[in-house]
Amino acid sequence: APAKPVLLTGASGNLGRVLARELTALGWTLRLTDIAPFPDPVPERASFTRMDLADGVGLLRLAEGCGAILHFGGISVEQPFGTVLGPNIQGLYHVYEAARRERARVIFASSNHAIGFHERPQGNAAKLDVDCAFRPDGFYGLSKAYGELMGRTYWDKHGVENVNFRIGSCFPEPAEARMLATWLSFADLVRLCEAAVTAPRSGHCVIWACSNNPASFWGRDHRDRIGWQPRDTAEGFRDKVGHITSGNPVIERYQGGGYTAIDYSRGK
Ligand code: NAI
Repeated sequence: APAKPVLLTGASGNLGRVLARELTALGWTLRLTDIAPFPDPVPERASFTRMDLADGVGLLRLAEGCGAILHFGGISVEQPFGTVLGPNIQGLYHVYEAARRERARVIFASSNHAIGFHERPQGNAAKLDVDCAFRPDGFYGLSKAYGELMGRTYWDKHGVENVNFRIGSCFPEPAEARMLATWLSFADLVRLCEAAVTAPRSGHCVIWACSNNPASFWGRDHRDRIGWQPRDTAEGFRDKVGHITSGNPVIERYQGGGYTAIDYSRGK
């Protein structure tokens, strides 16, 4: 387990609850926080503080003595600009300021929607490397691109280390054909967090966070720097979900799937 406590934002969310349970089971000391109440019994070796990411001073206090911040809090779906702005931009800044004060590493839950308007690779076409251009597929994806860039700046300017996960689709099981490419199992997420927090050095790095899926859209990234390899695979779900597609040519063309079609007005 890490020598210092780890702060987890978004602890009451879908992924936060999994991480709170699994990381404390590994012996980690966690400080959990969220604007929503924590819906489960607070695990041993964890404490929960209800707080808005808008509270920068509160975050400084919560991060005191922490060696890493797992930043999973904020708006997690496409929403109007004004809804995304506070939690995902101002809140992210508060997290980075707290990390700078503590010399802590930030683990940021970024998203495939930061690059969602790249086309899906067809056949044997090259997979997308992590240093590709940002092509955010909405205000949510834009906030994730900004988050990765903020990590870039805090590393270059202040030496604040950060590991950015471009999470595909992290659910108990793949639910549609697209997720045969994008699915990340909970177990692979937990091992990814372990690797990102405990690696001796990370610098600024970006990782495609999906399981070992043969249908993946994604190629090279910085996983070797933290020593992570996914072990699970979506391929075993092909018979179950391989036929579930949208029938919408925009959605099927782009990596971001359904998000690309929200409010889409470009025409054909
Ligand atoms: P979620 O929506 O279940 O959890 C996000 C949590 O953030 C919620 O508990 C919410 O109460 C909290 N939150 C929202 N605004 C807040 C504020 N102003 N102050 C404090 N807390 C606030 O989302 P989920 O699925 O657990 O995702 C976690 C992170 O991973 C998010 O950043 C999301 O964008 C990212 N992600 C998740 C993916 C997935 O497949 N689940 C895919 C790509 C990225």
